[in-house]
Amino acid sequence: MKFDIITIFPGIFNGFLSESLLSKAIKKKIITIKTHYLRDWTEDKHQTVDGKPYGGGPGLVFRIEPLFEAIQSLSLKFKVKSSKLRKKEKIILFSPRGKKFTNELAKKWSKLDQLIFICGRYEGVDERVAEHIADEVVSIGDYVLNGGEVAAMVVIEAVARQLPGFMHDADSAVKDDHAQYTKPEIFEPKKGIKWRVPKVLLSGDHKKIDEWREKHGR
Ligand code: ADE
Repeated sequence: MKFDIITIFPGIFNGFLSESLLSKAIKKKIITIKTHYLRDWTEDKHQTVDGKPYGGGPGLVFRIEPLFEAIQSLSLKFKVKSSKLRKKEKIILFSPRGKKFTNELAKKWSKLDQLIFICGRYEGVDERVAEHIADEVVSIGDYVLNGGEVAAMVVIEAVARQLPGFMHDADSAVKDDHAQYTKPEIFEPKKGIKWRVPKVLLSGDHKKIDEWREKHGR
């Protein structure tokens, strides 16, 4: 699966892409992740990506032209007529006003071949990007971030975990959905205080353990 990220801060992704399971998945070619510098698609000397909002107001808004040029080179959306050819790619615009990202969406998107992310910054993005370019506008939660970069990382991780071969074992994509404990059986943060592992988990009775896990799931 391929992820293309359009951003004015590609450096934000360096650590994220070079550590842990994600870098392994990249080496194993389960995923390909490319960052694209939005200013590369500008034509003026100052590589301007933003402008003043029509109607006035503070702050600057991302202009549509560089974003359209970026999408032209990364996506089939404006190149092919047949929607069949485009079936397995999606263009996502990150915005706090978007539809809420969930694990369900992560599962659905993991069936695609390509996700293209537009990371907005500043006060916003020309609304025509949401109206005509993006297939979906997505928010990762009810708070306002400085831009879409952190949201892109969240979505990449949640989607990549759903891909076959990404995790160490087949079912661990769903792990962490119930409470878990490990050694020691009794932990003493200070004298006289004992934090214990629930007895049922030490019992070896798998039926009871399953019931307990069912009750302590998310
Ligand atoms: N950009 C700014 N805030 C955001 C959020 N909560 N989700 C996605 N993109 C954003």
